[in-house]
Amino acid sequence: MRTTSFFVLVVASVIISVLALPSATRPKSFVLIGDSTTANGTTPNSGGWGNGFCGSTITGNIASVAAGTPCINTAHNGATTGSFVADGFFNISLAAIASEVAKGRRTLVTIQFGHNDMKIAPPESMGANMTAMIGQIRSIGGEPVLVTSLTRRTFFANGTIQDALGPWADETIQISQQQKTHLLDLHAASIKYVEAIGPDAAHALNRLPDDDTHLNVNGTTVFGRMVADLMTQSFPLELPIIPNPPLTFNITHGIPSF
Ligand SMILES: *[C@@H]1O[C@H](CO)[C@@H](O)[C@H](O)[C@H]1NC(C)=O
Ligand SMILES: *[C@@H]1O[C@H](CO)[C@@H](O)[C@H](O)[C@H]1NC(C)=O
Ligand SMILES: *[C@@H]1O[C@H](CO)[C@@H](O)[C@H](O)[C@H]1NC(C)=O
Ligand SMILES: *[C@@H]1O[C@H](CO)[C@@H](O)[C@H](O)[C@H]1NC(C)=O
Ligand SMILES: *[C@@H]1O[C@H](CO)[C@@H](O)[C@H](O)[C@H]1NC(C)=O
Ligand SMILES: *[C@@H]1O[C@H](CO)[C@@H](O)[C@H](O)[C@H]1NC(C)=O
Repeated sequence: MRTTSFFVLVVASVIISVLALPSATRPKSFVLIGDSTTANGTTPNSGGWGNGFCGSTITGNIASVAAGTPCINTAHNGATTGSFVADGFFNISLAAIASEVAKGRRTLVTIQFGHNDMKIAPPESMGANMTAMIGQIRSIGGEPVLVTSLTRRTFFANGTIQDALGPWADETIQISQQQKTHLLDLHAASIKYVEAIGPDAAHALNRLPDDDTHLNVNGTTVFGRMVADLMTQSFPLELPIIPNPPLTFNITHGIPSF
């Protein structure tokens, strides 16, 4: 065998073995994109599920993702899909994604908007902006995962959720289908859970007593776990997510943990 063809063979087999590396063993990273309902919460108008998902030494949350798995929360309070890009936060996300991809890590990027988009434009505007984000994330090797909006914990007297976010959740679902991304239906799962535990237990998760949107440390623990479980369901056996069977049991059985 000539040296060059042997070299080609070696290179080819290395490439094939890298490609054949089961995705379960390839190291993973998470990057989170969204508004305050994802963002880490250290000020009154903030506090989303990100801290409970990634873990936070500030709020004292234990992480849902395994130790040694980068989990970079780039979500920003008050953001719409438009302002997130215009204010430069999306560039920060893209830099984080590029950096994780460069380390050879499979980089999953959650995108959750709606809470602020609904105040300024119809759902299709958010959808178009999400589609653009998906394209840019994929172009640098990231893997977008769409997440429908965490519900607000505002109830009608009959105990059902007063849901204004539905059309934005539906738009997110539609974009995930069009763009063939994974989808975590946090909107549906969070409505089901808070309706099951009822207003008092749901409001115990509020960042401030009359703030039905943002989460305190117990809220981020619960909804961070909910997202982690939705992620595990969407990517069975593929991701370094630590199970928490007692908390998952409470969530799936409509039992308040706090
Ligand atoms: C919260 O977000 C800020 C701004 O992105 C970041 O500097 C900080 O490290 C984050 N804190 C935690 C606990 O994740
Ligand atoms: C979507 O982005 C455009 C700019 O590209 C902006 O004008 C529009 O307001 C954004 N929509 C939302 C809901 O943020
Ligand atoms: C984001 O980065 C792109 C490419 O470098 C640049 O053109 C754009 O102006 C940046 N956006 C903001 C808001 O800084
Ligand atoms: C609960 O009340 C709201 C507001 O009045 C109403 O729209 C909804 O249909 C009711 N749901 C049930 C299950 O009774
Ligand atoms: C589950 O709910 C029960 C009843 O409220 C509570 O005592 C327990 O601490 C919860 N478990 C977890 C892991 O949150
Ligand atoms: C979280 O739950 C624990 C246990 O029930 C409770 O002691 C604590 O006060 C709660 N934290 C907040 C911020 O409500």
